[in-house]
Amino acid sequence: MISIRTTIGNDLDDIIRIHLLSFDKSHFSANFPPKLLKSYLECLLKSCPFSFTLLSDNKVAGYIFGGLNPSVGVKDFIRKNLWEVISVFFKYPRFIKEKIIEILFDKDFKVKNSKEIPTVYIIAADPFVRIGIGIKLINSFEMKIRTENFFEYRLAVRKDNDKAIKFYERNGFHRLFTSRTSYCYSKSLR
Ligand SMILES: CC(C)(COP(=O)(O)OP(=O)(O)OC[C@H]1O[C@@H](n2cnc3c(N)ncnc32)[C@H](O)[C@@H]1OP(=O)(O)O)[C@@H](O)C(=O)NCCC(=O)NCCS
Repeated sequence: MISIRTTIGNDLDDIIRIHLLSFDKSHFSANFPPKLLKSYLECLLKSCPFSFTLLSDNKVAGYIFGGLNPSVGVKDFIRKNLWEVISVFFKYPRFIKEKIIEILFDKDFKVKNSKEIPTVYIIAADPFVRIGIGIKLINSFEMKIRTENFFEYRLAVRKDNDKAIKFYERNGFHRLFTSRTSYCYSKSLR
């Protein structure tokens, strides 16, 4: 049986399991030790009121976090864990280069900062439970934002994330703009 509920703090340990299963190491947060990842997801959840957890046979199998300003949660996380985050950068220096490029050249890539248009900040599905988890989560997110009178939303995806790009393109998203590492996609609900 499949059910979807608003994400609660108690889901986070299972969400960490899904996060580590589904995101490859090209994603910065997939390299966080579990305690740091939990703090990241806790801070994000606080700034993402449109967040849902999917359960299959009572087991967490996917999640989506979204809101109007998820970057507030990211800033809060960095403020609380600055030294741990810096240590991850030094352990995986390729992310230092990426961050510098982002700061120098992609200042206008503001997909995660628009206060008028909701953003999906993270979505992930258990890769071993193939029941259309991603689309079910997207449907719940869309139903929620419609009730709040939003009819467009956005997200960013890494250019090398072929699976997610295919998923978005077959589900009605179109590409708005491009940074050196990511694409910004938008979906209209009108
Ligand atoms: C992007 C992502 C969330 C998409 O979720 P998804 O559940 O794979 O996508 P869908 O909802 O379209 O489900 C498709 C899969 O469910 C299967 N499926 C089974 N029953 C189904 C049903 N009733 N309806 C739809 N699909 C069904 C499909 O065959 C397909 O499996 P396959 O990938 O083995 O072909 C997922 O790929 C993911 O977690 N990726 C890693 C994390 C990530 O990159 N997130 C995005 C960051 S921007």
